[in-house]
Amino acid sequence: MTVPAGYRLVDMPFSRRDEMLSVDEWAFAMTHPEGTQTAVEAGIDWDRCRGIEAVDSRASSASEVAAVHSSYGYSMRVPGGTVPTSGLTWVGVQPAHRRRGLLRAMIDDHFARSLARGEVVSTLVAAETKIYQRFGYGLACPSYKMTMPRGATFREVAGSDDLRVRFEDADVARHAPVVRAILARDPRPGAMVEMGEALMASQFADPEALREGQERKRIVIVEDEHGPAAFALFRRKLSWGDTGANGTGSTEQWAAVTPAASRRLWSVLADLDLLTSFSATCLPLDDPAVLLADDVRALGLKAQDHVWLRILDLPAALTARTYGADLDVAVQVTDNVVPQNDAVWHMTVEAGIARVTRAADGAQADLRISMQDLSAAYLGGTTIDSLKGAGLVEEATAGAATTLSSAFRSPMAPRSSFSF
Ligand SMILES: CC(C)(COP(=O)(O)OP(=O)(O)OC[C@H]1O[C@@H](n2cnc3c(N)ncnc32)[C@H](O)[C@@H]1OP(=O)(O)O)[C@@H](O)C(=O)NCCC(=O)NCCS
Repeated sequence: MTVPAGYRLVDMPFSRRDEMLSVDEWAFAMTHPEGTQTAVEAGIDWDRCRGIEAVDSRASSASEVAAVHSSYGYSMRVPGGTVPTSGLTWVGVQPAHRRRGLLRAMIDDHFARSLARGEVVSTLVAAETKIYQRFGYGLACPSYKMTMPRGATFREVAGSDDLRVRFEDADVARHAPVVRAILARDPRPGAMVEMGEALMASQFADPEALREGQERKRIVIVEDEHGPAAFALFRRKLSWGDTGANGTGSTEQWAAVTPAASRRLWSVLADLDLLTSFSATCLPLDDPAVLLADDVRALGLKAQDHVWLRILDLPAALTARTYGADLDVAVQVTDNVVPQNDAVWHMTVEAGIARVTRAADGAQADLRISMQDLSAAYLGGTTIDSLKGAGLVEEATAGAATTLSSAFRSPMAPRSSFSF
């Protein structure tokens, strides 16, 4: 691992929280308003925070800590199973120390520490899309933002109208178990089926000073015969126009695990009194809202990148999921950041189960793909065929891309439960 001269890697435990938050305030062009610190601190996993200190006075500025990052460990749904995942977050470099290789050093550190913990893929939500592709992160969860007009309607789903709905003030102690129960049922690749307290707390964080005139966070819960089946943490903001109430509502944290629960959730949120619209982010591309809407144009769908994924341990990641077609191919993976992945891999699948072994040096490959693109395809949403169609996959054996594509494809579009 290369750390630029004059710098050293350090842990950033809770006792160094002011230094950590100061670097991120500089990096993200903001200061945390008074009264928000406790909520912000509760949403950080301090055991996983790392920093880079300037040890050479010529390189140092006002703050001795020049760069920081953290991560959340979670268990992520993949087709046929789950995979231990390291969600990179809170990445920031103090402006005086930019473009000296500190991010590159932190990425090496993050990858090495994640692998040491047995986390074989890493995920992130990018502040700027260009930053992380060079490190092998591919877009695994493209998404829509939708803005439902008041009264948007959806085609019938049997039993949907009978599901019980509860509206409550959001409270992490009371509702985290409900959210966990729903996510444990979530069949979509990318779902966060188990997570630690900090990641959960970060989703419920709601300091008054960050509300910008909106109400406090509320939660709506939809229940079916098996228990909680959908939820949304949401807020509304009321305003009055010349023609009357002109409020808006929004959710960034939600999940729905059956078609009936999904239809009920969106129908209820599209019909809140005094609102003219309700928006939701992070919809998977095949969300029931999109397929059931009576007027899909009215949803104002906007494509967004959501979660980017990077395979860290290729054989462990590929064997953690199941596949939809048998195959026997040699795949050359190019990885210029994690050298142990940069090889020709022999991959066979029988009855959904994969065997992945490293081929001898110089072995012929049926297909060549970069780690970024393999990672984009890992959750089964972005297909190998479409990557080939974009000129990103080289095929040496005719049909190899289509075979691999059929095997990797997931029946449901992937979606990360939360942004982080
Ligand atoms: C983005 C940020 C973390 C980069 O840190 P840094 O230490 O300057 O990055 P490095 O010097 O290690 O650069 C590594 C590579 O990424 C490139 N890079 C860095 N920031 C980039 C950006 N915003 N856009 C495109 N490329 C970028 C560098 O040019 C360099 O490329 P190279 O290896 O081909 O020469 C830092 O500028 C920052 O804190 N920005 C504001 C907060 C932010 O965006 N954080 C990311 C949150 S997801």
